[in-house]
Amino acid sequence: MSSYLNDIDRTKVPEHVAIVMDGNGRWATQRGLPRTEGHGAGEEALWDTVKGGVEVGLKWLTVFAFSTENWSRPPAEVLYLMNFNRGLLRRRRDELNRMNVRIRFIGRRNWRVPRSVLKEIRIAEDLTCANTGMTLTIAFNYGGRVEIADAVKQIAREVQAGRLRPERIDERAIAERLYASDMPEPDLLIRTSGEMRISNFLLWEAAYSELWFTPVFWPDFDREVLFEAIRDFQKRDRRFGAIAEDA
Ligand code: IPE
Ligand code: IPE
Ligand code: MG
Repeated sequence: MSSYLNDIDRTKVPEHVAIVMDGNGRWATQRGLPRTEGHGAGEEALWDTVKGGVEVGLKWLTVFAFSTENWSRPPAEVLYLMNFNRGLLRRRRDELNRMNVRIRFIGRRNWRVPRSVLKEIRIAEDLTCANTGMTLTIAFNYGGRVEIADAVKQIAREVQAGRLRPERIDERAIAERLYASDMPEPDLLIRTSGEMRISNFLLWEAAYSELWFTPVFWPDFDREVLFEAIRDFQKRDRRFGAIAEDA
């Protein structure tokens, strides 16, 4: 076991860590490379982070791979990202399966995503669905607002069909209709590349997440940086609107 795990309190590891993997383009530009090379370099970072997550005992790791807003990028970059994510699943699913990792996706499936990518998503999910280790959720074609809109649409249908009374619509009713209703809310939300914004990631779910930002560009991220974030998380006092226990 790595030595830098030593100062992590194993009784206070966050159950769910979510990461906005940002800065691939700038990482590449700094090196005089095309932006797409940065996405490619991000694969190793993701891989090391997944292994670190398993090592430290995370139950849930969620990564933002492609947002509903990323469609507005140049077509060549969008195409690269579609092919890249499809390839990544093909390359990594067996090893993830051997690691007892369960792969899941959140995002809109019936809108814009090429059929060949959807197919790989289904294969990866089916292959790993019975795994009992960490759940790796990939947010792909994901947008927090669209997710809430989809939940509201579902609620409207149920009301119309007489299966749900409007008085019964509460926070839980909405949460139960999000893309992964069994997923606990993220305890810790990390964003790389120095940007300090949410960019439409897990809007509902991150209401009480601890936020952690690092200037590190995503391709340079690894498990050591993840552990640094977790150590920082362990010093936080989460109050959820109440007052501190010892106050
Ligand atoms: C994150 O890196 C990956 C995706 C959004 C798909 P970026 O591509 O946003 O890289 P920067 O932020 O432009 O450097
Ligand atoms: C968020 O990063 C989306 C992903 C990491 C997939 P962006 O690079 O798209 O976000 P903005 O444009 O900086 O807000
Ligand atoms: Mg970016």
